[in-house]
Amino acid sequence: MRVVGPEDKYKRLAAEMAVERVSDGMVVGLGHGSTAAYAVLRMAVLLRDGSLKDVLGVPCSRRVEEEARRLAIPLATLDARPSLDLVIDGADEIDPGLDCIKGKGGALLREKIVAQASKRRIIVADASKCSARLGEKASLPVEVLPFALVPERHFLESLGGKIKLRPGPDGRPFVTAQGNFILDWSQPPLDNPRELARKLESRAGIMAHGLFLDIVDEVIVAGPQGLRLLR
Ligand code: 5RP
Repeated sequence: MRVVGPEDKYKRLAAEMAVERVSDGMVVGLGHGSTAAYAVLRMAVLLRDGSLKDVLGVPCSRRVEEEARRLAIPLATLDARPSLDLVIDGADEIDPGLDCIKGKGGALLREKIVAQASKRRIIVADASKCSARLGEKASLPVEVLPFALVPERHFLESLGGKIKLRPGPDGRPFVTAQGNFILDWSQPPLDNPRELARKLESRAGIMAHGLFLDIVDEVIVAGPQGLRLLR
């Protein structure tokens, strides 16, 4: 069971504001994580009381899919609806230029696919996720093909920082929806995230990384100072 922390009221505030951007007939990407879950909950309430109509959700993970089904949100797949109106998702760290680190929940590859399929990308977060430079707060998840685990780990080590194979709940390695492993890479704040993204994307065994650069259109942050919109 997830522990509800003091930041949850801010997560809810940010998520509920994002849902104000959803209108009748939209196809909406449903992000993974505790903040995005508040958006799913809000959409379910609005659909149930008739304030929203004919909305379809495209979930970023099995867990979100199950939750959306439980809440009776009508769902679609990317096969059926490859172009989404918007996606509402969380993040682990956000810089002032709207670049993010995502993937603490392990759904980074599907989250990026859904974000790229969406016309408008909204990130919702509590204020603790904001930083001046990516890498100050969050480690970077790197999704690796099991066949390539050791060479890709060596490659990341050659770039510096500390690398940890993410454990699953049973103590064995965490396995993503695609059957891959995740290396969590802690390093000093990133001087050049774009160059790093290019290096990671040049590796055949790296299936995805948690740098979401030049993807996000709007960030909604809530904290003790109130709601803030970054665009
Ligand atoms: C999952 C993610 C999440 O969006 C991110 O970890 C934020 O989660 P939370 O809202 O629970 O803090 O990227 O892969």
